[in-house]
Amino acid sequence: MKLAIGNDHSAVEMKKEITAHLEAQGIEVVNVGVDTTDSCHYPVMGYRVARMVADGEVDGGILICGTGVGISLAANKVKGIRACVCSEPYTAKLSKMHNNTNIIAFGARVIGIETAKMIVDEWVNAKFEGGRHGTRVDMLTEIQDTQDLKAAHEG
Ligand code: RB5
Repeated sequence: MKLAIGNDHSAVEMKKEITAHLEAQGIEVVNVGVDTTDSCHYPVMGYRVARMVADGEVDGGILICGTGVGISLAANKVKGIRACVCSEPYTAKLSKMHNNTNIIAFGARVIGIETAKMIVDEWVNAKFEGGRHGTRVDMLTEIQDTQDLKAAHEG
């Protein structure tokens, strides 16, 4: 498995620890930055990771900023991206099983490193269930592609 990881200035240390945690499990991790605590703009790293995921260069992405909100919003603007910000492992696992998320995000100012490790482990190991969840994820894609949803006009 190959993942991309990106962060802003608030999450340099957490990114390093999460990268080491994943690499210790044999997962290849591509770092898109940043690696200094100089103030920077989270959409840049959110976009870099999202682009790699959308282009199929990696199997998924991990994004970390202060809250996880801004950097996941940036990623979700890229076609084909389903990024979820979460603060506990249950949501991370279900976001893959039910929503087929291809990026997981969290906040270095919100959670500690042990919770962050549990989040990435649950997310990496979870599998999309498809079936009725596939129908719903297809609806997300329909909204993205058409800015409309046929089912919203029925019944
Ligand atoms: C940076 O100060 C902070 O706004 C950013 O890390 C993130 O929390 C934004 O959503």
